[in-house]
Amino acid sequence: MTVNTFKTLSQVRSTFLDYFAKQGHTVAPSASLVPQNDPTLMFTNSGMVPFKNYFTGKEQPPANRMTSAQKSVRAGGKHNDLDNVGYTARHHTFFEMMGNFSFGDYFKEDAIKFAWDILTKDFALPKDKLLATVYHTDDEAAALWKKIAGLSDDKIIRIPTNDNFWSMGDTGPCGPCSEIFYDHGDHIWGGPPGSAEEDGDRFMEIWNLVFMQYEQVDKDTRIDLPKRCIDTGMGLERMTNVLQGCHDNFDIDLFQNIIGSIQDLTKTKAEGEARFSQRIIADHLRTASFLVAEGVLPGNEGRNYVLRRIMRRAMRHAHLLGSKTPLMHQLVPVLVNQMGQAYPELIQQQALITDTLYREETRFRETLDRGLKMLDEAVGKLPSGGTLPGEVAFKLYDTYGFPLDLTADILKTKKYQLDEAGFETAMAQQKALARQSWSGSGDKATDKIWFDLQNDVGNTEFLGYGSLRSEAVVQTMVKDGVIVNEAKTGDQVGIVLNQTPFYAESGGQVGDIGILRTDNAEIEIIDTRKPTGNYFLHQGVVKNGTLKKGDAVEAIVDAKARRQTQGHHSATHLLHEALRRNLGEHIAQKGSYVAPDRLRLDFSHGDGLTAEQLQQITQDVRDQIAAGTAISTKVMNLDEAKNSGARALFGEKYGDEVRVVGMGTNDATGRAYSVELCGGTHAKNTAEIGAFRIISEGSVSSGVRRIQAVAGITAEKMAEEELALLEKTASLFKAQPEILFDRVQKLIEENQSLSTEIGTLRRKVAMGGGGSAQEIEQVGNVKFVAKTYDDLPVKDLRPLADELKQQIGSGVVVVST
Ligand code: SER
Repeated sequence: MTVNTFKTLSQVRSTFLDYFAKQGHTVAPSASLVPQNDPTLMFTNSGMVPFKNYFTGKEQPPANRMTSAQKSVRAGGKHNDLDNVGYTARHHTFFEMMGNFSFGDYFKEDAIKFAWDILTKDFALPKDKLLATVYHTDDEAAALWKKIAGLSDDKIIRIPTNDNFWSMGDTGPCGPCSEIFYDHGDHIWGGPPGSAEEDGDRFMEIWNLVFMQYEQVDKDTRIDLPKRCIDTGMGLERMTNVLQGCHDNFDIDLFQNIIGSIQDLTKTKAEGEARFSQRIIADHLRTASFLVAEGVLPGNEGRNYVLRRIMRRAMRHAHLLGSKTPLMHQLVPVLVNQMGQAYPELIQQQALITDTLYREETRFRETLDRGLKMLDEAVGKLPSGGTLPGEVAFKLYDTYGFPLDLTADILKTKKYQLDEAGFETAMAQQKALARQSWSGSGDKATDKIWFDLQNDVGNTEFLGYGSLRSEAVVQTMVKDGVIVNEAKTGDQVGIVLNQTPFYAESGGQVGDIGILRTDNAEIEIIDTRKPTGNYFLHQGVVKNGTLKKGDAVEAIVDAKARRQTQGHHSATHLLHEALRRNLGEHIAQKGSYVAPDRLRLDFSHGDGLTAEQLQQITQDVRDQIAAGTAISTKVMNLDEAKNSGARALFGEKYGDEVRVVGMGTNDATGRAYSVELCGGTHAKNTAEIGAFRIISEGSVSSGVRRIQAVAGITAEKMAEEELALLEKTASLFKAQPEILFDRVQKLIEENQSLSTEIGTLRRKVAMGGGGSAQEIEQVGNVKFVAKTYDDLPVKDLRPLADELKQQIGSGVVVVST
C-alpha cells in the first residue's frame, strides 16, 4: 500500500474528481449547506442532496454523469452524528462527501467497476484489505462483486437492515446500497459489519454505493423512480485517513494542523479527556465556520439553534481545556489556511466568522461558569447515577443558555441521567404563561384563531435574509376565519409554512409578495404578516388548482419588489444617520415605512428643514451610496449591541438577541457610518441602493417631521417621467428644456402686462357704457349709484367703484357683475 503518497486531503479530493471527470462525469461545485431544494432537510447531509430532483425526474440534469465533493453537515434530523463526535475515530458534524452520480445512465455494474478501479489503481489500496456489504436480497450486487473484484464469499457480507438500504430522509429517492469497508488490521479493536464488534474502528466504511431505484413519497408510499440511478458517497476524511496510513480521521493532516493550533493556544497535550475536547473543538470549528460563511447565524430557532448548540458544545470544551478567554475565533486562520483554497467562502467571510465566534463565546462565557456551578450543586444532591430534574435543565437552558444536549453531554461524562420529559413540561409551562400575558389585537374572535394557529404550528423559520426562494411544507391554512385543510381556485387564504423566504411585515418594512407553487396549484401572495409575532402568515389568492395541508410548495419571493424594498430600507438607515449628523443628536426615529416604491421616515425635530439642509442631507446619503461599501449584519445580545453604539429605536421591543446592521464608510475607530438594530432585510452593498432623492419634507405633528424619499429604479423612473413632462412642455415652445425657464418667465411677464392692459381697456369700455353722474339717485340726504356690468372680472370692479365714488363725492356706490 502506498501510505503517505497522499500528503494532503486536497490531493485525495482532486484524485477522486479527476478520475470521474476522465470517465465522462461533469464536475459540479459543492452546493450550499442549507438545502435550496428540500424543505424537509435541515442541512445538506450527503452528496446527492443537491441532485435530488434529477433522481426523481422533476428536473433535467445538466449531464447524466456527474461528480462532486459536497460539504455536508450531520447534526440534526435523520442523519445526526453530533453525540458521537470526538469520541470515535470517524464521526464528524461537518465532512466532505465525494461521489459519482448517474442519472439514468450506468447502473450497478459500472458503479462497482468504477469503484474497484479507482480504489485499487488510483488510490492503490491492497485488494485484500477491502470487503463489501450488500443488501441481503441483492443477489445481483453480490454476483457483481465476485465477478468484478474477485472478492471471496466471506468478503461479501449480506446485511438485512436499513444500514444497506439508504434513504435521504423520511421522503425522497432511496434504494439498496453496497458499502465498501477497509480493514485497518487486527491491531485495532472491532469486527466486520454485521458482527457484534462492528462498532469498533478496525473495519471502516469508506464508500457507499447506492443503487437508487425508488422514491419514498410519504410514510406509506414508495414508488419506482422513472430511471434507475447511481449515487455514491465517500467520506473524504475517512479516505484520507486510510491513504495517510492512520486509523483515526483526526490524525489526518487537516485535523492535525487544527488540533496543533488548539494545543498551542490552550497549552494542552493530546492526553486523557483533553484529547476528546480538542477533537470536538476541531470538528465543531469547521461546522460553525462553514454555516456562518453561508449566512446562518447563531439563534434560538431551527438551523440557527443547531448552530448555537454546536458552537456552545465546542465552547464548553474550550473552557474544559482551561481557556480563560474566547478560543474559537483564534482558530479561524488555521481553518482558512487548510480549507480556504477549496472553499473561498471561508476567505470571503473570514471577518464575519471570526466576529460571530468571538461574540457567541464571549456571551456564553458570561453565563457558563454560573450555569456550571448551578449544575454542580444540583448534581451534588443526586445519588450516584441519579436523574437531573427537568426544571433544573430548563433553568440552565432559559437562564444560562445551556442547550439541552450540552447539559446531557456534561451529565453523560459524569454518568448521570437527564429527565427530558420534565424539561419539555417546564418549557410548555413557560409558553403557556407567555400566552396568558399576550394582550391581543382587540379583535377577540380573530385573536383566538391566531393563537390556535400558534399552538399548532410554532415558529416559522425565516430563510429570506439569504435566499428569495425555498421549498417548504404547508402547515396550516385559514380561510374566512377558520382553519381549513384545503383551498381551491379563487379562495383567499392565509397560509403558514414550516420555513419561508418571505419577509413578514415588521419594523416598518412591508411584507413580501410573490408566489407559492406546487405541482397542482399556484397561489399569488399579496402580503406576509406575523399575527402573533411568531409564525408567518402568507396571505394569498389561489390562482389555480388546489392547495392542501402538508403539500410541498416552492416559495418564490418577487425578487424585483424585494430588491427595491431592501434598497429603500438601507437608504432609510443612511437618511436617519445623515439627519442626525446634520441636525443634531436629538434626532430620533419616530416611525418608518419601507416599501418597493418609496420610503418614509418620521423623526423628532421642531422646525422645517431649509433647502440647504435638505440638499446637504441628500448629498451625504448619496456619498455613502457612492462609496459602495459592504453592508454587514451581526447578531449580538441587546446590551452588547447598545454598548457598541448601535442605534436602537425608542419604544421598540427587542428580544435579548438582536441583529445589528452596519453600513457606510468607517471612521477612524472602525465604526461604520450607520449602525442600527434592525431585523429587516437590506442591500448587500450601499451601491445597490442606486439613485436617491428626497421628494417631500413636512410636519406630521408637533415636534415630528416626515421625509419621503425614493431610491433605486423608483427614483430613476420618477426622474424619467419628469424629464418626459419637461420635454413635452418644451415642445410647446418648440424649444429645448434648458431654455424653458427663461421662456416661461417671459411668458408670465407678457401675460401680466397683457392682463393689466386688458383691465384698463375693460374699465374704459365699462365707464363708456354708463354709470355716469346722471344715474345718481338721491335717497333722503344720501347720494346712491347702483350699476351692473356684464362680463367684467370681479377684480376690475374695485377701480370702477373708486371712479364712481370720486364722481359723487360722498354717498353709496354699489357695483356688481
Ligand atoms: N447518499 C449516500 C450516503 O450518504 C451515498 O452518497 O451514504
